[in-house]
Amino acid sequence: MQLQLRNTGQTYGVIAKSLHWVIAALILILIPLGIYANGLPYDTAAQLARKGQLFSLHKTLGVLVFFLAVARLLWAASNPRPAPLHPDRRLEHLAAQTVHWLLYGSIVLVPLSGWLHHAATSGFAPILWPFGQNLPLVPKSETLAALTAGLHIVLERVLALSVLLHIAGALKHHLIDRDVTLRRMTWGQINTPPSAAAPPPSPARARLPARLPLVAALLLWMAALVTGGALGLYTPHRPPLAGPAPGTAPTTVPATAHTLPGSEWIVQSGQIALEIKQFNSIVTGQFDDWQAHITYDPDRATGQASVTINPASLRLGSLTSEALGPDFLAPGRFAQAQFSAALNQGTATGHLTLRGQTVPVTFPYQLSLDAQAAQVQATLSLDRRDFGIGLKLDDPATLDYAVAVKITLTANRAP
Ligand code: HEM
Ligand code: HEM
Repeated sequence: MQLQLRNTGQTYGVIAKSLHWVIAALILILIPLGIYANGLPYDTAAQLARKGQLFSLHKTLGVLVFFLAVARLLWAASNPRPAPLHPDRRLEHLAAQTVHWLLYGSIVLVPLSGWLHHAATSGFAPILWPFGQNLPLVPKSETLAALTAGLHIVLERVLALSVLLHIAGALKHHLIDRDVTLRRMTWGQINTPPSAAAPPPSPARARLPARLPLVAALLLWMAALVTGGALGLYTPHRPPLAGPAPGTAPTTVPATAHTLPGSEWIVQSGQIALEIKQFNSIVTGQFDDWQAHITYDPDRATGQASVTINPASLRLGSLTSEALGPDFLAPGRFAQAQFSAALNQGTATGHLTLRGQTVPVTFPYQLSLDAQAAQVQATLSLDRRDFGIGLKLDDPATLDYAVAVKITLTANRAP
């Protein structure tokens, strides 16, 4: 038997068939794998590691689908399409062609949205080959990550539904119509003479307008995307900031440009940034809401610093919700973190209270002074376990014990 590489007017060639079945097999693995991995818990290190492994596999196979799909589209565009067997059954033909468009689009858009989501986040389940962890022009962004995750889910639902309709159609042709539709996409023998496999062109009025299936597919995608928007799937789900209890005064004020009575130095700007390592990938974030009270005597190079932080104001990229969960910062229960230290010749010695646990801390700081302004920089390393954070994640390869804190601030001498 001679291998026919290219499609003909009657049947698919070996390349189209191979691409069709390899991609079909991968997609039939990827959909249940994605749903299963997404539903797995991640409370313990073992659970998180398993979830991470399955997502790594999901992403790696998914990116493979993307490349195969691009090859397939290019091949399909440069090959004849076997003629429809029953173009006179207008509705059936419209449904089949619309589903083909949905499938062609989905095999590119579903992995692409997943890949963009991956590139916009950091710290979770790497793709299992060295390239593609980051994509050009795709910033690490919580908003973009939420948008692309929502798109991935909506597009993947359209794909799953299209696959079901497509399989139902193929089986109908094979089992009820008993025609060659399935056999010409497989390696089965097409015994029908070419004239029966590809009927003569039907009269123009019986045929569908050529672009109608594509337009129908675009409308269906649009409807699905709008539904996703109405369900709020494209926006980050961030736990609400822990506000003050009704009837009580607010406990924190914005960090910048506030005056504290009696303080000698007023913070003008600054940042309390965090760096954690999950699955060997660094994730950075910062607290948006904190206030500092600093007294400092430049002649003796001594002073006092006291910092109050609102843990609910943490932004840690795509890990924000996890970091604010009950096993982590739990701002619902521990509404404030407090740091106070004596400053002495470049060393801060004091205590940090976080999640209700008070731990002694000592770290060096660099201070540069001019006539009115002071610039301070400090880096310290904390062990999250000292504060009872993420205790169930007891494997540092999953989530490192060390958390780096970087403090930078500019303060002016109070008038
Ligand atoms: C044809 C390829 C793909 C298919 C069919 C597919 C399918 C799925 C499915 C069914 C889910 C579960 C959604 C749910 O639980 O409702 C999912 C989730 C996910 N997929 Fe894919 N996927 C593909 C490619 C990719 C790629 C290439 C990546 C990344 C490189 C990726 C990353 C993800 C992520 C991160 C989630 C979890 C989304 C979330 O946090 O809600 N996927 N995918
Ligand atoms: C699961 C993912 C699948 C995808 C993404 C997919 C996609 C496609 C696409 C885009 C076509 C148009 C022809 C082409 O390849 O260029 C096609 C044709 C076809 N597919 Fe699939 N398919 C999938 C699974 C299946 C399964 C499981 C079956 C069998 C039960 C099947 C049976 C067929 C048949 C018979 C054709 C030829 C239709 C015709 O000639 O009119 N497909 N498929």
